Amino acid sequence: MNMKKILVAYFSASGVTKKVAEKMAKAANADLFEIAPATPYTRSDLNWMNKQSRSTLEMKDRNCRPAMAAKTDVSRYDVILVGFPVWWYREPSIIDTFMESADFTGKTVVPFCTSGGSGIGDTAANMQALATGAKVLDGKRFSPSASADELKKWAEQF
Ligand SMILES: Cc1cc2nc3c(=O)[nH]c(=O)nc-3n(C[C@H](O)[C@H](O)[C@H](O)COP(=O)(O)O)c2cc1C
Repeated sequence: MNMKKILVAYFSASGVTKKVAEKMAKAANADLFEIAPATPYTRSDLNWMNKQSRSTLEMKDRNCRPAMAAKTDVSRYDVILVGFPVWWYREPSIIDTFMESADFTGKTVVPFCTSGGSGIGDTAANMQALATGAKVLDGKRFSPSASADELKKWAEQF
């Protein structure tokens, strides 16, 4: 049995990662926090074919930090599992905002993602650079149909 306190923190624009995160938190008996944008993404914001869409412009700028609707206190957790959709082969900019929004010193942080097919890429290294006191481990991409058992095993191993 895993006695560590786990937080599943996730961002999801269209609900796929949300389902995985909810299932993971339930299966691993973890708390759940939604990294919600202060300004929600509309359908047109998410159009990656449009060079001027909000998501395209944000993702082109490595220093972009979209505001979060609310922050959370991570101090009571040992392990923070951070879920998101892959955007342009990496973590969405709001995940960068999240990594800078709290003190992760001494915490184990592990990313997980959903995607149209891309792997999780360099996201662990990107997140480590933003939270130098944390121990950020390589993460994993999950299928939207990942089973509760698979998610539980993964979440409880850290
Ligand atoms: C702006 C944007 C960029 C994306 N970039 C990628 C990508 O580089 N590789 C990929 O496999 N999927 C990409 N996708 C697809 C999402 O990762 C995929 O649909 C994900 O499961 C959506 O999760 P969500 O419903 O939690 O937002 C992108 C989606 C959007 C909206």
